Amino acid sequence: MSDNPISLSRYLIEQERRHGHIPGSLRLLIEQVARACKRISRAVSKGASSGILGSAGSENVQGEVQKQLDVIANDVLLEANEWGGHLAAMASEELEQIYPVPHRYPRGEYLLLFDPLDGSSNIEVNVTIGTIFSVLHLADGVRDVGAEHFLQAGRDQVAAGYCTYGPQTTLVLTLGHGVAVFTLDSEQGSFVLTQEGLRIPESTREFSINMSNMRHWAPPVQRYVDECLQGRNGPRGKDFNMRWVGSMVADVHRILMRGGVFLYPWDRREPDRAGKLRLLYEANPMAMLVEQAGGMATAGTERILDIQPQNLHQRAAVMLGSREEVALLQRYHAEAQ
Ligand code: AHG
Ligand code: MN
Ligand code: MN
Ligand code: MN
Repeated sequence: MSDNPISLSRYLIEQERRHGHIPGSLRLLIEQVARACKRISRAVSKGASSGILGSAGSENVQGEVQKQLDVIANDVLLEANEWGGHLAAMASEELEQIYPVPHRYPRGEYLLLFDPLDGSSNIEVNVTIGTIFSVLHLADGVRDVGAEHFLQAGRDQVAAGYCTYGPQTTLVLTLGHGVAVFTLDSEQGSFVLTQEGLRIPESTREFSINMSNMRHWAPPVQRYVDECLQGRNGPRGKDFNMRWVGSMVADVHRILMRGGVFLYPWDRREPDRAGKLRLLYEANPMAMLVEQAGGMATAGTERILDIQPQNLHQRAAVMLGSREEVALLQRYHAEAQ
């Protein structure tokens, strides 16, 4: 570790002033989100000692029973970001409607979307969870911001990232010019740059899917996973390993760090739904990060970042990671059409 680590603040100032990659208002937004993630990390790490585990006794628009930490993380992100003057509104997995910045605060040019706590089913068992966020630009001249202003294709995101709450608290961020990783130095209480210019290996021996859903998948996914399971004597000519954490942030972080392919595909349990994961605040930010790191992210035959959203909480099939694997999955879907 260099004796003069680069803090998140310095990194963002250099992205603004040296590279001209971002305006000051976006720098401030990212710093506020990072500050909120540090607060969420502290709440998560207290776990059962603080009596905030377990159900909140309410249901969200997804039809999921909310955990107390889902609600706490959501409130931390709203409070941390509503007064800064850089946002017009926010959208969250945990809020049915959008959250316009209250009139008592100045409004800005950005829209912030987030999954405040991803992997909630892992909270009580002390497995890595996280926060996923996405930043869009509000169209010029909009006075009354509405849900329709959030319905932008993922390729229009100006920034995306996630924070993992695990053995380390890491912030993984893209501003559209590559992917940088920051690790929380808990003694300093600040995020320090630990990796930049991240590249996902083109090929892999590791796939990530919830195998218990196998009988529900469409043929192209069945075909792909079946070939992986045949190993070196099958058409892929190599043995594969399988990992499934059940927190998208943990599975995607592993793939960004060492390669692999993550799949949460459509399945016939909910035929009218594209899949379980939400497009605007799970699939899109992760797809931007993966593409910025040289990987691929497809919904089957369509690039995830090209999907034109129809509603705030719509789902998307997600297959992302090492280019070789995702390209093969995309080919299998095209051949099945
Ligand atoms: P969330 O906790 O934000 O609702 O998201 C959970 C998602 C995602 O994190 C993970 O990849 C997936 O659910 C796991 O789904 P299964 O439990 O069906 O495997
Ligand atoms: Mn949820
Ligand atoms: Mn999630
Ligand atoms: Mn969530």
